[in-house]
Formats: sequence, C-alpha cells, structure tokens
Amino acid sequence: MTTAQLLALDTIVLALVAGCWLGGGVAAVLAGRDRSPRTARIAAGLVVAALVCTALRVALTVGLAGAGWWFAADKLLLALPLVVVPGLVAAVISLPRLVRLAPGGAAVAGPILIAGYGGLGGVAAALTVSYPVSPVAAGVITGLVAGASVPTWRTLSGHPPSRRWSAAGGTAVLCFAVVWAGGAVWSSRLPDRLNLGAHHGSGAVAVPGHSGTGAPPGRQVSVTDLRESAATERPARSFTLTARPADITLASGRVVRAWTFDGRVPGPTVRVRQGELVEVRLRNQMPDLAVTLHWHGYHVPAGDDGVAGVTQDAVRPGGEFVYRFRATDPGSYWYHSHDMANPAVRMGLFGMFVVDPVDPVDPVDPAGTGGAAGDKDATGRTALSDHTVVLHTLGVAGTVAVDDQAPADGLARLRVAPGTPVRLRVAATDNVPRTLGLSGVPYRLTAVDGRDLTRPGRLDDRRLRLAAGGRYDLTFTMPSRPVLLSVDGRDDLGLLMTGGEGAAPPPARGPVLDITSYGQAAPPSTGPFDREITWVLDRRFALLDGVPMLAHTVNGRVWPDIETPVVREGQLIKITVVNRGRDTHPMHPHGHHVLVLSRNGRPVTTGPLWMDTLDVGPGEVWEVALRADNPGIWMSHCHDLSHASLGMTFHLAYEGVTTPFDAGRASGNHPE
Ligand code: C2O
Ligand code: CU
Repeated sequence: MTTAQLLALDTIVLALVAGCWLGGGVAAVLAGRDRSPRTARIAAGLVVAALVCTALRVALTVGLAGAGWWFAADKLLLALPLVVVPGLVAAVISLPRLVRLAPGGAAVAGPILIAGYGGLGGVAAALTVSYPVSPVAAGVITGLVAGASVPTWRTLSGHPPSRRWSAAGGTAVLCFAVVWAGGAVWSSRLPDRLNLGAHHGSGAVAVPGHSGTGAPPGRQVSVTDLRESAATERPARSFTLTARPADITLASGRVVRAWTFDGRVPGPTVRVRQGELVEVRLRNQMPDLAVTLHWHGYHVPAGDDGVAGVTQDAVRPGGEFVYRFRATDPGSYWYHSHDMANPAVRMGLFGMFVVDPVDPVDPVDPAGTGGAAGDKDATGRTALSDHTVVLHTLGVAGTVAVDDQAPADGLARLRVAPGTPVRLRVAATDNVPRTLGLSGVPYRLTAVDGRDLTRPGRLDDRRLRLAAGGRYDLTFTMPSRPVLLSVDGRDDLGLLMTGGEGAAPPPARGPVLDITSYGQAAPPSTGPFDREITWVLDRRFALLDGVPMLAHTVNGRVWPDIETPVVREGQLIKITVVNRGRDTHPMHPHGHHVLVLSRNGRPVTTGPLWMDTLDVGPGEVWEVALRADNPGIWMSHCHDLSHASLGMTFHLAYEGVTTPFDAGRASGNHPE
C-alpha cells in the first residue's frame, strides 16, 4: 500500500474507532440500567468492533511510521495512547462482564466511554495537530478527554459531581476557552507591518571571513542593493508590459473578461538570448489592482524578484517599475504578478519568458548525425520549429495558447513541415497539474523547468504529468502525419500539428513517465550538507489572520509564522519535503533550482533533475539539494496559489540580507 492509501484508510478508521467506542459505551450504560441481555450483547459486539478498529489503527500507524516518523508521530504520541489505554482496560474488564451479561457499574461502561472520548480526541488531533506535534494542542486535547472522563466516571459509579462543582468546573472551562481562543485569534492577526528581513532569534550568525553578499561579516545588505549593478550598460533587450483589463476572445468566439499584460493572455512572450541584459518596464493601468512581475524559475538578483512586500512595493495603478537582469541561463520560464498572486494569475496576469541558448544544440539530434529534412538556417542547421504552449483555465474554459496567438479553448493548430525538428515549451499556469500526451511521433522530454536533461530517452505514447507552475520542453522531428499534444487525455484540448496528410492520432494512452527515473544516471552524490531543512506539508485547522479555517500548513504552521531558514551564501542545503496531506503541493522556492536527490526513498536516476517546482503528491517524500548561491530574501510557497493564500507561504533568507519593504495589513503588499 502507498503512504497516501495508508493515510486515507487511517482517516476512515479514525472515525470508526471513535464511533464504535462511543456506541459501545452508550450501549453498556443502557445495558447496566435496564439489565437487558440484548443490549449487553450489542455493547459487547461494538466493543469487539472498536477493538478491531483500534488494532487496525495501530497497524496503520506502524505502516506509516515505516514511511517516516513525520507521518506517525501525532498518532503514536497523542491519538493512540488516548484510546489504547482505556481500550485495553475495557478489553480486560468490561468485555468479559458484558459477555457474562453482568453489565452493571462504572467498571463496565466507564472504560468503554472513556475510550470513546479518547477516540474523539483522536479525531480532534487529526484536525488540529500536524508535525511536529504541538505540545499546546496535545495538552488541550488530553485535558479535554480527562476533563470529560472524570465526571463520567463519578456519575457512573453513583457519585455524580455536585451542582456546585459542575457549575464551577463548567465556568472555569468556559472562561479558559474564551480567553485562550480570543488570545489565539488576536495573536494570529497579520501585523500592520511585517518585515521579512527581520530574522530575530532565527540563529543567524555572522561568519568571519566570508560574506558573498558583498557586505563585510556581520554587516547587512538590502535587497534593493542586490540588483543588476551594470546600470550604465545599455540593455540589449527592452520590453514594456502594461497591466490592464481586457476582453479576451477565445478561438471559439467566446469572450472572457481578463486581467492582462498588453491586452493579451498569456501576456507577450519575453524572449531573449542567453547573456543579454534584459530590461522590462512594468506599467500598471489596472483600475484598482496592484501588480508586480515575478520571473518564475529564473535566478534574477533578489531585488528583481518582483515579490510585493519583500523585494519591492507592489506597483499601484498608474505606477511603474523597471526590472533589469542578465539572462544567464537558457530555457523556458514564465512571469506573473506576485501581489495577491492567486487571483492575479488566475485572471491572466502572466506570460512566457524564454531564453534562447547562445549555442543551441539540436535537441532532436544532439549528436548532430543529420537526417532531418526541413528548411536549413544560415548555419546549415535545420531550422528549429520552436513554440511556447501555455495551458491555462480562463473563466471556466481550459485553453491552450501557442506562441502569441489567442488562446484556443479546444485544439490549437500549427502547420509544421515534415522533417522539421520541433521544440514545444509547455507551461502549466493553473493551480493544478496537467497530464500531457504526445501521440503520432516518438519524442523526448528534453528539459524540465528550464534545465536540459543530459540524455533524455525516447518516449513512445508515454504521458507526462506537469506540475502547476512547471515547464516541460518536448522535442521530436515532425513526421509526415499529424502529431497531437493532448491535455488531460482529451482529444479536444491540446495542440494539433499537421504537415502532410492523415487524420489526427488519438491522445496518448501510455503510462505516465516517472520523471525521477527517466534515464540510468548514477544517483546524484552531493553532500556533506551544511544544513538540513524539512518542510512537512499538511492541512489542519489553524487561525489565519484571525480567521479559523482548514489551512495549508508547513511544519504545522501558516504564513507568516512558518519558521524561516536563514542560510549563508555558499552553503549546500538538503531539503526534505514531506506531504502528510491529501492535496498535491507544487512547492516552489524562488531564485534557485533544486537538484532532486530521491523520491519516496528511491534515488533519482534522471541525469540530473533540476526543478523549481516540485510536484509533491500526497504521502510523498522528496529529498532535494539547494546550493545557496543567490543572496536575497526568497519566497517559497506552494504553487497551487490557492494553497499559498491559505497559509502555505514562507521564505528562505540569507544571513545579513534586509529589506526596506513591508508586508502586512497596512502595507498594501500581499506577497502571498
Ligand atoms: Cu510562480 Cu512565488 O511564484
Ligand atoms: Cu499546495
């Protein structure tokens, strides 16, 4: 069984445990009162069922512990003791007496009911406790179970607590609850001003003799100084992107109201050549929305990362901001607004960013053995047919936008001469992953998140799962028959490429490629690590800005209370990402790629797998390595941006880096 299945089963069993013990307890009370053998038998039956379910929960927990302590700690330390201890007493004392039809007294019904309270405590733990186990939550739940058990026991043994005691106890509990909840709500409110450059008490120490931020040891540098310094050099490429609302006409004629760059969704592709100094002027003509430009996956200097309240103030209506950075790395990336990113991206404030390599290798035929028959370019190489393909839901319509054409809410079409090498740069810009299929031709997954793989093998009819926010480059040589890039297995959503004759092939149906074992490379050997960080992802009740909700948590906490790792330039950091929940979390650290080391304990054999958006499924454990080579304050968050806005946002800070910008209620900046 997979960890995800164990977790799902555990959720069901958890409810059964509480239900059977409580039902058994009530039946035992009734049996004691009316001395009915039938009720005693029902009670005995429920106790047996409860024991079976409890044993099953113990077994599931052992299984989960095998997958990692993160999955089992809350159960072993809290939920199970609350039910197992009274449950064992019930099995030894209550059950035999129920079976002998001698059900009277506290000794029979008491342990069963108390096990029921313990079972309820287990349900509460599942809803409120994550990893690491919070001692406060554990104490409150244990206290509630004990607080309910004592009067129950006394009542069953014929000494119910006096009215005075009940009233006093009730009032005390109520007062405590009101004060505690009120305090928690108050302290969880987002402060008016929140400065992410202040890493007090997070263990930052200046290291003598080394500081790559340009600041002497112990000194500080602001993100605003971490910008492309060659201010005198004229940028090789300049772009202007204007944010404004517009009506977008989809290929079917349907019109969607959108927030756009330059009146288009996706916004104009920013395409440059490797090594060029790029300048992008952002103008905001939205009537009442602040915007920024974040370069997703690109290692820009921190000051150009475009995160409102961290690396700049959000650009207000009528304002502008100029981004400037050198396009050092080639590949497929995208840009999007990063102030209230969830609605902004959903509504259309994004576009592709492509950096062409200085010295392109033929992606279809890296060894250069020839064989292609399309047009030759000036260098005699067969001209590459190179396209961006953006998958996004506009309004309710799934769309496919090819290059800078209007998005198709169906099949986009391209004509490609047979024999032409093709590169498709596919980006998934929604909050959910997409399943891609390429049929009609064997192909290669040439690049992941902008990074070329060394020896991508040939794929036939295989499907690919692309993370929300991730990019895959697919390459192949155009055959004489049509080729179909299908989205989520549909034959009516995707890209149909035609050159010669023939009907469209059906969508690919083959197995989904495991991108962590795409090749036979030796597993990456990195380390020793200077630092190890764990992100345990979960969903539980939490207070977010004073509002109780089922939030998305990291290490049991929500934005802005998730602990900030403070790293030092040059450090090699191992990050273990654990998904305890039932949602997929495409985790995205800004400003860095991470080298994927292993998934679910299996070392990666893809030669090398660098990613900026990790598709961490339920129950999965990813180990990745991050080289701290880009000083700054870097957001890290789930790229299901609805999760990011419900708590799953945090950041990674470099020692000594400060920011003059604030997030928070009064700041007007909403990085999450
Ligand atoms: Cu595309 Cu903060 O992310
Ligand atoms: Cu998520």
